[in-house]
Amino acid sequence: MPLEPRAYYLPYLDSPALRKRKLQILMDDDGLPGDDTHHYQLARAFLNIGAHLPLADEEFGSHEDLCRFLDQETAHFVHVAQRLYCRSLGPWCAVEMLSVDWMRALAEALSVHFPQSIHEPYFEDCFLQRVEERHAEEAMAVTQMVLQQRPELLDQTIRDAKMMAEALDGVWNNLDRIVQQAVRRVNGTEHRGLRLIVDRMATAIRTSPTVQHG
Ligand SMILES: [Fe+2]
Repeated sequence: MPLEPRAYYLPYLDSPALRKRKLQILMDDDGLPGDDTHHYQLARAFLNIGAHLPLADEEFGSHEDLCRFLDQETAHFVHVAQRLYCRSLGPWCAVEMLSVDWMRALAEALSVHFPQSIHEPYFEDCFLQRVEERHAEEAMAVTQMVLQQRPELLDQTIRDAKMMAEALDGVWNNLDRIVQQAVRRVNGTEHRGLRLIVDRMATAIRTSPTVQHG
């Protein structure tokens, strides 16, 4: 999926059988019927709720370009993914294991304000076909096979998985902050509105000829 870092760079999957399994993951993202991809689907999902997309679809690719539009923590995630995805299979496992949870959280959060968004093909197809659950199982199975052959990779695989999970946590921290700021703004507006009404009522009462002033 587009919010996941790219599986294209995964190392050690170089036997024919492992290449086939990697290709299947890539097809799930980029080989959808009608020349569609998860990237295009997600872009349409955001366009349909009125988002402005600062980068055109085909301008995606360079993580440097992408980071110019991101907050610090999300940019850190992109940098870490770029660095770690080609180094070990741990980051891939971490991201695929967490994918279904955060995709659901994102879809459900958006659907509070845009009920249609949970039915966007990007979300609905993934949930119905259990795409991310399959990716998580596949990532773990393939990584176990590689580690059985090359146990010396275990430490780095686990270390990288942890770094990736922490970086992904940062993306959510940033989303949390956006929500908290929005809540504060709304509360502030309500309080200001309420104060204005109370002030007006108080003035009206004070100046009303029918009100007896002691
Ligand atoms: Fe995935």
